[in-house]
Amino acid sequence: MSDKKSNVISLHGHKVAVTTSREAETLRQSQKEFCEQAVRSILHALDCKDHYTYGHSMRVAYYSLTLGKELGLDHEALYNLELAALFHDIGKIAVPDAVLNKPARLTEEEFLVMKSHPSKSAEILKGFAPFEDIALWAKHHHERYDGRGYPDGMKGDDIPLYSRIILIADTFDAMTSTRPYRKGLPYEVAFAELIEFSGSQFDPNLVEHFITAMRREEGKNEQTFKLTIVDGEFNKDAA
Ligand SMILES: [Fe+2]
Repeated sequence: MSDKKSNVISLHGHKVAVTTSREAETLRQSQKEFCEQAVRSILHALDCKDHYTYGHSMRVAYYSLTLGKELGLDHEALYNLELAALFHDIGKIAVPDAVLNKPARLTEEEFLVMKSHPSKSAEILKGFAPFEDIALWAKHHHERYDGRGYPDGMKGDDIPLYSRIILIADTFDAMTSTRPYRKGLPYEVAFAELIEFSGSQFDPNLVEHFITAMRREEGKNEQTFKLTIVDGEFNKDAA
């Protein structure tokens, strides 16, 4: 029987021999729980640094998952997408508050500091072996479809799928969330913006799927959403 066979699994980068598949499953589960505890601790640090970016990250995860489900991604893919979305802006921890929360236009120098955040996200995440791929997807969430984004100027489908998804979710939240200095745009206006920049900034195929999925979500008339990895209910409306 298969559960009598010995198994070797990878736990925190080390090969560990286990005797049954049930034990292997238990170990995998506890590894996952450890990872999720680490995720919540790191996100708590982000919340302490900048409450807005924390809420933004939750909403970007929700919008990314909405698009991921529309694309028919499987359970594991959605889980990884959620992780990448939750962490995409973690590098903002390294951006000084005066730049991060500046209510006016950034100077050229400040913009350069701000632009370092995707690479910082990758730096923070890649040291933890289970987050190696997450680091890569976070690093590329400001690449543009036409190759004029940063940090690497990647183009089209060379940009990882999850990074292209997160860019749409990220921009949509930036447009629709209300900040102390301006009111968020209505969804339909934000959809029109996404369409306008389809093919230049955004993957046009993903924009189409996103708008379809978001209109369906809107039809549910729900004020809150839940995530898989982070507990609690979050308001769709950012204040
Ligand atoms: Fe970002």
